[in-house]
Amino acid sequence: MKAYELKEMIGPDGLVMTSERPEPEAGPGEVKIKVHATSLNFRDLLVAGGRYPVGTNSSIVPLSDGAGEVVAVGAGVSLFKIGDRVAGTFFQGWSGGAISAELSANALGGSVNGMLAEYVVLPEGGVIHTPPHLTYEEAATLPCAGVTAWNAVVEAGRVRAGDTVLLLGTGGVSLFALQFAKLHGAHVIIASSSDEKLARAKALGADTVINYRTTPEWDQEVVKATGGRGVDIVVEVGGGGTLEKSIKSVRVGGFIAIIGVVAGAGQIDPRSIIGRAIRLQGIYVGSHETFASMNRAVYSTGLKPVIGRTFAFEEAQQAYEYQTGGSHFGKIVLTVCDKTLRGDTWNK
Ligand SMILES: NC(=O)c1ccc[n+]([C@@H]2O[C@H](COP(=O)([O-])OP(=O)(O)OC[C@H]3O[C@@H](n4cnc5c(N)ncnc54)[C@H](OP(=O)(O)O)[C@@H]3O)[C@@H](O)[C@H]2O)c1
Repeated sequence: MKAYELKEMIGPDGLVMTSERPEPEAGPGEVKIKVHATSLNFRDLLVAGGRYPVGTNSSIVPLSDGAGEVVAVGAGVSLFKIGDRVAGTFFQGWSGGAISAELSANALGGSVNGMLAEYVVLPEGGVIHTPPHLTYEEAATLPCAGVTAWNAVVEAGRVRAGDTVLLLGTGGVSLFALQFAKLHGAHVIIASSSDEKLARAKALGADTVINYRTTPEWDQEVVKATGGRGVDIVVEVGGGGTLEKSIKSVRVGGFIAIIGVVAGAGQIDPRSIIGRAIRLQGIYVGSHETFASMNRAVYSTGLKPVIGRTFAFEEAQQAYEYQTGGSHFGKIVLTVCDKTLRGDTWNK
């Protein structure tokens, strides 16, 4: 079968397409999936560049995110049948409850082979049904960015109607967070490097927009926009480059979901957190249970993920380079199986 392997951790150039990988077969308790679409995350750039610990340095199949149809099930599988529309879960062993080192040990496209292949075999517990109204391309955006945003805003952040939520950038996590915050009746402030992207964020429901390039002291604008109070929740994807300003943007007793490092690492003065009793929590994607809660909300509200651009399977390197360039809005998707070759007739 066709698949990509990361032969060397040197960025997109280390990504090699092969047609000689053996097609996997489902053993007891396992589900075989024909992958129709996958999506990229910033994390996949870190993995490809050797900047994300994966426990090996060659020949992994990349990407945590993919969706497809079940084509075989092994003995004892009870939750899935042939033809079901499914995705893999980011962590293959975290069913629910609190995270632990053991539960977060196996992540697709990292410590275990990922989704950028024509077929994958996953344990039943690492598979989830996708919301029926989504195309495979849309469903493929959910496992990492969607679940992380849901965990940050809804589960750890406990968003309520009337809260103000601050989002940084218009990448995959931030746009899901925008959609989930609006579903819950929150006021959304979003900062981006681009006025054009901010206009698109407004069309998606953002209430207040700030260009962090032309307004480098964007935290002051955020505080002003909240009448001096500060926001209730920050979805912090910037890291050291933005955390200090996020701390200044949040209200006394507010919540910051620590998620990413797109703007680099840095140092923080603990006094800025203590004196204002801010709650900071590291978010690491989420469990199967969190994915299922998010799916129920996505389905019942008819929410559609935001796809910035779709590439063909053969264009994986270009897709990686496009994500690296940062001009995307929302998710970048790779189609694995051509739509005309898909087995089902639903939502082609
Ligand atoms: N902890 C977890 O479980 C988890 C899960 C998913 C992602 N992450 C992390 O979260 C981060 C975002 O991931 P992603 O996949 O959503 O990335 P992405 O789609 O590549 O989005 C990155 C966006 O960040 C914005 N950005 C860059 N520099 C910025 C700055 N200085 N200030 C504010 N925004 C800035 C840019 O938006 P504009 O172009 O609009 O400016 C850029 O498009 C990454 O660090 C990733 O590793 C962590």
